[in-house]
Amino acid sequence: MIKLDLSNTINPIPFKSYAEEVKKIHKMINEKTGLGNDFLGWTTWPKDYDKEEFARIKEAAKNIRKNYDVLVVAGIGGSYLGARAAIEALKGLYGDDKLEIIFFGNTLSPTYIKQVLTYLENKKFAINVISKSGTTTETSVAFRLLKELLIKKVGKEAASKAIFATTDKARGALKKEADEEGYETFVIPDDIGGRYSVITAVGLLPIACAGCDIDQLMKGCRDAMNDLNNEDIFTNPAYQYAATRDYFYNNNKQVEMFVTYEPQYTQIGEWLKQLFGESEGKDGKGLLPDSVTFTTDLHSLGQFIQEGSHVLFETVVKVDSPLLDLTVPHDEDNLDGLNYLEGKKLSEVNEQAFLGTLKAHVDGGVPNIVLHVEKLDEYNLGYLFYFFMRSCAMSAYLLKINPFNQPGVEIYKKNMFHLLGKPGY
Ligand code: PA5
Repeated sequence: MIKLDLSNTINPIPFKSYAEEVKKIHKMINEKTGLGNDFLGWTTWPKDYDKEEFARIKEAAKNIRKNYDVLVVAGIGGSYLGARAAIEALKGLYGDDKLEIIFFGNTLSPTYIKQVLTYLENKKFAINVISKSGTTTETSVAFRLLKELLIKKVGKEAASKAIFATTDKARGALKKEADEEGYETFVIPDDIGGRYSVITAVGLLPIACAGCDIDQLMKGCRDAMNDLNNEDIFTNPAYQYAATRDYFYNNNKQVEMFVTYEPQYTQIGEWLKQLFGESEGKDGKGLLPDSVTFTTDLHSLGQFIQEGSHVLFETVVKVDSPLLDLTVPHDEDNLDGLNYLEGKKLSEVNEQAFLGTLKAHVDGGVPNIVLHVEKLDEYNLGYLFYFFMRSCAMSAYLLKINPFNQPGVEIYKKNMFHLLGKPGY
């Protein structure tokens, strides 16, 4: 399934020195006594999730897949990154699914918004608007524009049936509107923050709409929850990974570069950047999370990683079997000189690129953590999501930081609201 390989960290990680602290933090997470303890709902969610709502998610997905050409998912940050990462990872970027999924409400770009709205004019589309607060500007503005278009196309009644709102169970403008207009609603639990919410309706509805098996995804999460509920750093890979990050942070590394080897996993890097960046980047502390997709980015950032300032280590999420594969064909003329690769699968070529890069970077003094995933199906992805969430909580607590708030995100919003003349700012 998932295997943590720490044989390329250059220096061995002194797990022994972490053992007692990790035990203490493990207890603190499970007993919910640490900083931000009212946001630990995700720890047991894989078994505690609302089964009635889960069935409704599957029904809604069936309805959307049957009756619409496009699902527009309107949400930003934790309210879309996980769903997008999952759908792209599981389906690839150019799958042949009949339902197209468009991510919207994650930008204030007038060009992007206008182009998507124009594209949707002749499409039969449904909307899944996702916002815990119900007031996020990017999402609210996009939703208002989408709704206007939908109502113009199909009328108010049909529009209400095509809108699915994922939001707080009781509070916020979106919940109020959903109740008044009769949209079907799904709940973002009070005790699960945005960046830990991919395993709730936030992620599950879009993922199910993409035709993915959310039962398997939750099973993977559940197995990870059970396997990783273990205080022993010597046998818990999630805590080994957290301690390794902490060790690098304390040994002059400032950047964790997440690496994947196929473009369909690029968004996993985006999800990881938010998970670790928002969880740890506070009080003047934290590793800066960045991400690259190899081999593409070996031709841009590869030079810096190999020979630039030694500020970073890499964490490679290495999927060992691709979704699809093909073979390099024979060419009689061999003008491109590629016949030495003839008959080789592209996955084998990519594998050698991974091995060659790993050796080059480690030889260049860049430590590498490698997380092998046998194949990225729903089960393993659920496992992986939970693995990283558990690691992240441990890692942030090792830094003595609240992993579950994001006070810094509010500052730009206040300035923007003031500049835009929002009442009360
Ligand atoms: O992780 C977080 O909490 C944030 O990224 C939020 O998910 C993001 O700001 C969107 O917030 P909301 O769901 O309230 O619209």
